[in-house]
Amino acid sequence: MPIEPFALERWQSRYEHTVGINLSESGVHPLRVRDLLEPDDLDSLLEQSLEYTQTNGTIALRERIATLYQGATPADILVTNGGSEANFVTCWKLISPGDEVVSIQPNYMQIPGLAKAFGATIREVWLRAEQSRWTLDLDAVRAAVTDRTRLIAVCNPNNPTGSRLSDADVTKLCDIAATHGCWVLADEIYRGAELDGLAAPTAWGRYDRVLITAGVSKAYGLPGLRIGWVAGPSDIIDDLWGRRDYTSIATGAISDLLARAALEPARRDLLLQRTRRILRQNQDTVAAWVSRQPSVHQIPPEAGGVTLVGYSGSRDSTALAEAIRVEHDLLVVPGAHFGLDYHFRLGIGGKSAPLSTGLERLGRAIAAQT
Ligand SMILES: Cc1ncc(COP(=O)(O)O)c(C=O)c1O
Repeated sequence: MPIEPFALERWQSRYEHTVGINLSESGVHPLRVRDLLEPDDLDSLLEQSLEYTQTNGTIALRERIATLYQGATPADILVTNGGSEANFVTCWKLISPGDEVVSIQPNYMQIPGLAKAFGATIREVWLRAEQSRWTLDLDAVRAAVTDRTRLIAVCNPNNPTGSRLSDADVTKLCDIAATHGCWVLADEIYRGAELDGLAAPTAWGRYDRVLITAGVSKAYGLPGLRIGWVAGPSDIIDDLWGRRDYTSIATGAISDLLARAALEPARRDLLLQRTRRILRQNQDTVAAWVSRQPSVHQIPPEAGGVTLVGYSGSRDSTALAEAIRVEHDLLVVPGAHFGLDYHFRLGIGGKSAPLSTGLERLGRAIAAQT
C-alpha cells in the first residue's frame, strides 16, 4: 500500500529534538509526572504492575473519558496510543477503495493522507479566511458530499488555523452528513484549549454516525503519555478495538494510570486553566510581534496550541523555513505542509522566552528575503 510522506510529521520528527528553538510544537509545554501526582500518590505509580492493561483502556480511564461526552458509557470509548492511532484505526475501519472523503481544510493532514492510502478520493472544502476569522462554507460542504461520501472529516478546534466552529456549524455539518448517511469524523484533540475558556462544540450526540477522536496530547499538555481515544457507537468501538489487536494491542500501563490522574475532574480543570493561561500569554506576545512586522499578518487563534501567520516576500514557505532552520537554528512549520504557502505555523504553547527569541529571528529572516 503506497502512502504519501506525512510532510508535517517528517519535518518535526527529523529536527525538533536537535534545533535550538522549536516553534513547530503544536501542544502546550508538557507537564512532568510530579505535576500530575501528589507526593502521597507516588506510591501508586511505583506499585503499578508493568502488565498488559485492559487492552481497550481500563474501565476507570474509560469512565473518566466517557464523562466528557454526554450520555456516553465506557463501552462507547476505545483508548488508543495517541490521537494518531485513534485516527488510524477509524480510517482503517471506515474507508474502502472507491469511497469519497470530504476533508475540511486546512487540517493536520493525517486523515487525508490515510484516506488516500486506503483508496479514497479526497474532496477538499477549505475554511475561508475572512477579516478576522476563519469560516466554514456550508454550501461548499453540501456541494462536495455525494452518495459515495463515506465520511466528512473535520478538525475542531482546527490545527493549523486555531479556529473554532460555531455550535450551529457543527449541527449543520452533521445534518448534511445525515442526508447522505455518511459518517462525521471529528478530530477534537484541541477541545479544552480555547483561549476564552468557552469549550468548542463537540459533534458528539448530534447524529448517530459520529466518531470523535481526541486525547491528552494537546489541551492537557501530556503528549508523552501517548493516550488518545475514539468515542462513538459501541458496536463500532468494539470493531475498532479488534483492529487494535493488530496495531499496538494496548497502551502502556503507566500511561493509563497517569491519564486517569489527569482526567480526575478537579485536576482536569487545573490542567485546562494552565493551558489557557499559557496560550493567552503567548498569543499576546505573537500579536505584539505581528503588529511590529510590516509584511506579516495573523488571524488570531481562538483555540489550540498553534497559530498561522502569513507573510509576503519572494521565498516560498518551504525554502524559507529551511533557511530559517539552518541559518537561525529555529524550527517553524511551512504553510505548504497544509497547502497554504506563504504562511508559517507557530506553536503558542511553549515557554515565553524561546517564543520571543524565535519571533525576533523569524522577523529578521522574513525581512531579509530578497
Ligand atoms: C489535530 C491532531 N490530531 C491528532 C494528532 C496526533 O495526536 P497524538 O500526539 O495524541 O497522537 C495531532 C498532533 O499534532 C493533531 O494536531
